[in-house]
Parts: sequence; C-alpha cells; structure tokens
Amino acid sequence: MKSPLIIANWKMKVSGDEALTLARQAVKATAKYKSAEIVLCPGFTELAGVASAIKGSSLKLGAQDCFWEESGAFTGEISPQALFSYGASYVIIGHSERREHLAETGAMIRKKIFTAFRVGLVPVLCIGESFSQRQEGQKEVALIQELHQALDGLWLTEAQRLVVAYEPVWVIGSGQAVSGDEAEHTHQVIKQTLYDLFPASVVQEQLRIIYGGSVDPENVAQFTIQPTVDGVLVGGASLDATVFTALVAAAVKAGC
Ligand code: PGA
Repeated sequence: MKSPLIIANWKMKVSGDEALTLARQAVKATAKYKSAEIVLCPGFTELAGVASAIKGSSLKLGAQDCFWEESGAFTGEISPQALFSYGASYVIIGHSERREHLAETGAMIRKKIFTAFRVGLVPVLCIGESFSQRQEGQKEVALIQELHQALDGLWLTEAQRLVVAYEPVWVIGSGQAVSGDEAEHTHQVIKQTLYDLFPASVVQEQLRIIYGGSVDPENVAQFTIQPTVDGVLVGGASLDATVFTALVAAAVKAGC
C-alpha cells in the first residue's frame, strides 16, 4: 500500500491569522491519518507562522514558488535557500497560474528545479495541457515537451526526490476534474517519459506523479486508487479544514 502524498496549495487565498487557524485545524483533524504525507503550501508571508503551527506534527511545509538563484540582487524574489531555512521541504515550481500570469517559461522553470535541488528542497514540477492543446490532439506532446524542458540533463543523487504534478490547466478551479481513468492513462505517458529521462531505479524509488485539478473529497478516491497516481495536489478543497480532512480520509481509505 502506497502512502498518498497530499499537497495543499493555498495560493494567494489565505493570510494572517486565517492561515494559522487553518494550519492548526489541519494538524488536529488529520493527525489520525498517519499513512498520508501531507504538505501545506501557504503564501510566503505565512510560511514562518505555519511552520510553527505544524511543528511537532507529521505535516510538512512547502512553498508555492522560488527564484532560481540562492541570493543576490533580485528585488522581490524569494530565495530557495531562505525557504529551506524556514523549514520548507517542498516547493511547487511551474504552476500553470505562474506560466500564464507571470510568463514563466520552460527555461525559467528548469533553472528553478535545478536550484531547488541544490538547496535541498523537493521540487513539485507542475505540468499540464491547455484546453486547445487537448482539442487539437496535442495533449501528450505538450506534457512530454514540458517534462523535457524542465528535466533534460538532470541527475539525481540517491537522496533526492522529485514530484511531478499533472494538472490539466483547463480543469484547475473549474469544479470538474478529469476521470480517474484519464488521469491514469496520462500518468502512464508521464511515467514513460520519466523512464526516458532517468534510470529505472530513480523512477521507481525517487519520483512520484500526483494529479491536480478540482480534486475534492468526493472524487479523490478515483485518482488515488489508480496504480500510477501517487497522490494529489489540492487547491480549493484545501482551504477548509473539514473539507480537507474529508479529502485526506477518502484518499487514505482508497488505499493509494
Ligand atoms: P484546484 O487547484 O484544486 O482548486 O483545482 C489545484 C491547483 O491549482 O493546484
């Protein structure tokens, strides 16, 4: 039985005391689901508070982005080294909202991935096709291209871990997830590409592929039950502790 990786992406939606309350509630409510690995990704200004709220629990801390240099004259950017020292162990990289609104390119994402590894963070590389790519039969081509752009030439040491999050862009925040079967098929394509990029032992032991896009307590089991779905990346359904706990419970029950 795999232990599901469940990453909560709070986006720019929870701040200040609200974030602390949500983190404390999540710690309490999810405590009995020991077999799940749960990561909270608050905004940057909430990282320190959430780090102290989850201290001593099994919950982990993640960030929603980082810069590709560790320090220097980069006004307004966030150092991955600083994230690591705040207690973050994961960092989301290449989320489609950043690709779209901040013009993040494959080249930028690639640099961020390499730097995240250098400082000891586990990158969560987000990839996904747009609706038009899907309509034009280009879905798999788009995903394979994004994987190569981000990961070509990357060499993982035995201690390093990478997470790939498959998030169909047109599904995010829509309330309408793809089917479990479609996610499984797509994850197999992603896995095959990872086999082209890394030694088999690395793919089997050090890489995980998770699904994201309108995951909720009702549909999460249809994903986590699939053989190549190692967990989920959750936006909207992670913003309420009761809903999030129900999602964790359903994911664990489905025997991810
Ligand atoms: P959603 O967001 O669960 O609200 O669709 C997922 C994400 O953007 O990571």
